[in-house]
Amino acid sequence: EKAGFDHFMLKEIHEQPKAYRDTMGARLNDEGTAVQLPELKLTAEQIKGISRIHIVACGTAYHAGLVGKNMIEQLARIPVETDVASEYRYRSPIITKDTLVIVVSQSGETADTLAALREAKRNGAHVLAITNVVGSSVAREADSVIVTWAGPEIAVASTKAYTSQLIAFSLFSLFLAQTLGTQTTEAITETITAMKQLPEQVESILARGDEIKAYAEEIAKHKDLFFIGRGVDYAVALEGSLKLKEISYIHSEAYPAGELKHGTLALIEEGVPVIALAVQEDLFEKTVSNVKEVKARGAHVLGLGQEGHEELPKAVDQVFSIPRTVSLLTPALSVVPLQLLAYYASLALGHDVDKPRNLAKSVTVE
Ligand code: M6R
Repeated sequence: EKAGFDHFMLKEIHEQPKAYRDTMGARLNDEGTAVQLPELKLTAEQIKGISRIHIVACGTAYHAGLVGKNMIEQLARIPVETDVASEYRYRSPIITKDTLVIVVSQSGETADTLAALREAKRNGAHVLAITNVVGSSVAREADSVIVTWAGPEIAVASTKAYTSQLIAFSLFSLFLAQTLGTQTTEAITETITAMKQLPEQVESILARGDEIKAYAEEIAKHKDLFFIGRGVDYAVALEGSLKLKEISYIHSEAYPAGELKHGTLALIEEGVPVIALAVQEDLFEKTVSNVKEVKARGAHVLGLGQEGHEELPKAVDQVFSIPRTVSLLTPALSVVPLQLLAYYASLALGHDVDKPRNLAKSVTVE
């Protein structure tokens, strides 16, 4: 049942190219110039009337929502707030009839996410669910559903569900942009062309698993480490940090690179590993100046960047490069080495990769 892999998590990491293809599937037109989402029960008029969007989810799905916020705001220019469901439901969120609420849940059964959905519906908002389980509670109660076709996810640590949520968000953002006219057909086509290349690009990262394994074995000797990044790189840093904590039990923190000097820099000392995500090209220089700050305090830095970048190798101790894609889609690639890092670190420490202590796959109680 693990199809020759030692763990479900590794199998699911390797299923990502297929999950990307299946989630895009018939939602892209044959010409590759437009997105079609007939499952969306919103008319063009209703979409034009949306004044704000709330994205609500827990854990990894919340991290997908942080990337989703960036995608929607950049492509469709609608203001988006992303919230953890257990916070959202108790803070009397301002939900009006022109608010679209997007709930994201792999299982579709997470108690807090379901409660947030009900709160949104009570206030008259249209609720769109992004879920991996067709008949789940979230899918049944939402007004519209975009299914992520990742297939069953068994490992407690979410991998292919997260990346399929990123694909769902890119489809949805492009659909909004098309409807609202906020992007040209050329720009939409360029993003779609890049999306279609993602599965093969993920394959090429997976083929370099040994590089990550060697680095993970080093990391496994440490008690603390840091992830830094800006923009969507920061959102991916949060996900990389959660994955590592969840299954390797190594403490890590993810920081927006520019925030370090407001406190966390005090924790950087000789030999501390820092994983710097410098994938966003437009923010590259800024992130590199933060890398210099940690290196000056003795940190050992692994830089994650895009292929062909000449500056990154000069600034860090080690580099892992991912294939090039358009800025907003980089999370669908940059998270993959971080998933492998968590996997191999957990393996090196002899932990139960698929069933980490204290955790359940689906959190159906508050
Ligand atoms: O099923 P859901 O997507 O609603 O689950 C949300 C979180 O419990 C889940 O993503 C959790 O954070 C993962 N175990 C992280 O790998």
